[in-house]
Amino acid sequence: MESVAAALARLQLLATGPEISLLAQRFADAGHEFALVGGPVRDAFLGRVVSDLDFTTDATPDQILAIVAPVADAHWDIGREFGTIGARLGEETVEITTYRSDSYDGATRKPVVEFGSRLEDDLTRRDFTINAMALRLPECVLVDPAGGVEDLLAGVLRTPGAPQVSFGDDPLRMMRAARFTAQLGFRLDDAALAAAVELAPSIDIVSRERVSDELRKLLLAPEAGRGIRVLVDSGIAERVLPEVPALRLEIDEHARHKDVYEHSLTALDRAIVLERERGHPPTLVLRLAVLLHDIGKPETRKIEPDGSVTFHHHDVLGAKLAARRLRELRFDNDTVKAVAELIRLHLRFFGYSEGRWSDSAVRRYVRDAGDLLEWLHILSRADVTTRNQRKSGALAAAYDDLEARIAALAEEEELAAIRPDLDGEQIMAILGLKPGREVGDAYRFLMELRLDEGSLGYDIARSRLLEWWAARG
Ligand code: CTP
Repeated sequence: MESVAAALARLQLLATGPEISLLAQRFADAGHEFALVGGPVRDAFLGRVVSDLDFTTDATPDQILAIVAPVADAHWDIGREFGTIGARLGEETVEITTYRSDSYDGATRKPVVEFGSRLEDDLTRRDFTINAMALRLPECVLVDPAGGVEDLLAGVLRTPGAPQVSFGDDPLRMMRAARFTAQLGFRLDDAALAAAVELAPSIDIVSRERVSDELRKLLLAPEAGRGIRVLVDSGIAERVLPEVPALRLEIDEHARHKDVYEHSLTALDRAIVLERERGHPPTLVLRLAVLLHDIGKPETRKIEPDGSVTFHHHDVLGAKLAARRLRELRFDNDTVKAVAELIRLHLRFFGYSEGRWSDSAVRRYVRDAGDLLEWLHILSRADVTTRNQRKSGALAAAYDDLEARIAALAEEEELAAIRPDLDGEQIMAILGLKPGREVGDAYRFLMELRLDEGSLGYDIARSRLLEWWAARG
């Protein structure tokens, strides 16, 4: 984070555009409080792009409507019983919520909504201190009762009140904690982590859809691996994605193999770097596949008589387990199928490094990967996490070679598919020829033309053919 003063100046800029100034003035004129709150305040401090603006007020939903409707281009009721009104004013989309002091029923995490009267109370019931700041408008005064700015500067996630109460009220907040560590690169404060360890089982009352939505946001974040560690360390992963903590295999001192959990997280970090280097946006299918690629290992681990360890068919089993888990989490069918397929294919490349494949084996690899080829490239490369530089260098070179051969074969096949614009029959008809050497010459001329200038269409090809024929005499 840059200096507090610079962040405040940016916040002020954000909150004093013409539309927002107009809104703030209308609330003030009606005798109500009005403040920018939560995510946008946090993001302005972090220099992140702020898109949707959330506001809070002591006005009731009906009063909000009466103030907003006359100046809004559109407005909607997001859930009047929850106290939120949405509106569009020019370029700005805003959501305005009445101060809350909700209590939760503790069983379903559905809040029993109670409206509040003080901004400070609304703020301290929120999930984390960095989300519990507001900018009062039109005065532009920062309200930060829980020390959010300090925590932003320190890079720490802390609950405004006792974490047991906050997570007890809303267990989803434990997953939000993991997600924010992944998005912001922050660390979770010790007391909050301890509370999450204690309350992890209560994540079961949250719907699968909400859980997987948080998981999706976490995985798409820049430091996804950091968020996964929070889920595992808190015991939340045990409830929502048990295959991941199960990767922490006991390592027998006689039967050595790498730590599959650490390997998977290292692979995920590597995949995120490769994804960016190769010009892709954050991609869920890829990241899920990398995280889960070895989940078949615990069940297939076998210690051979000579003390070596094998994981036969962990690719096939892993694909099955991943599909089952992702379906359970309500991920869509395409995502489930793609992730499972990538896991099933993730060992194929290792055959390549052991002996060069025939062209037909390369073609089969491309055909089997289909649309997933680019993700398979990244997964296979990211899977090489050995610290032995000679080994990792050799595998990277082998994969470069495989990609080069795929490109060369694709180009050859494309070239092989190229035909001149006119076929033999057309040439004979245009030039009035019978089959013979001259037809072959004309065909070769048109092929050269096609390679030099691309496809020209029948009419141009015909007139160029006639020119060529005339010049030839
Ligand atoms: N909030 C909360 N507890 C939750 C969800 C939300 O206290 N379980 C509060 C936080 O103050 C948060 C605000 O409501 O800042 C808005 O929530 P939401 O839009 O879900 O999150 P943002 O923080 O805006 O972040 P993002 O848009 O990235 O999800």
